[in-house]
Amino acid sequence: MKQKIKVLFICLGNICRSPAAQGAFENLIKNKGLENQFEIDSCGTSGYHDGDLPDPRTRKTAEKRGIHLTHKSRKLNKKDLTHFDFLLVMDEINFQDVISLTNDIIIQEKIFLFGQFRSDQGAPIVPDPYYKNESAFEMVQDLVEDCSLGFLNFLGEEKCLK
Ligand code: 4NP
Repeated sequence: MKQKIKVLFICLGNICRSPAAQGAFENLIKNKGLENQFEIDSCGTSGYHDGDLPDPRTRKTAEKRGIHLTHKSRKLNKKDLTHFDFLLVMDEINFQDVISLTNDIIIQEKIFLFGQFRSDQGAPIVPDPYYKNESAFEMVQDLVEDCSLGFLNFLGEEKCLK
């Protein structure tokens, strides 16, 4: 049996962007009947919100799209870097924080800006909505849904899917 594709979504606090991305991607692959092919998780580069559910604004926005978020925030650890096949970060600061944890080129090549998979020509980042208003959370939700589709297409092109 082929190995599962292990995907880790990473942001700063693991209460806004990365759980939203995790929920959107899980929802997409479930709808496509691909859930058996994946292991999916999310985490933060900080432990500021360890054990917390996603921000209420993130949960409310996801819920409106039929996505129920139950993930509890946790901090990225060294084992994640070897365990997961794809380390999908939300912005350049996350990228620097993660890449600075290793000199191993194999691991460094697993780090991608999730925003690079968006369908338009916008900046390849998912901006932090934490200090913003509700519309910023809607924008993040739209973006992570769009990037999820793009990432799944990328996996197809890379012949990662069965
Ligand atoms: P996230 O957003 O990285 O998308 O989860 C944030 C959540 C919390 C904080 C910053 C960003 N904070 O400073 O507590």
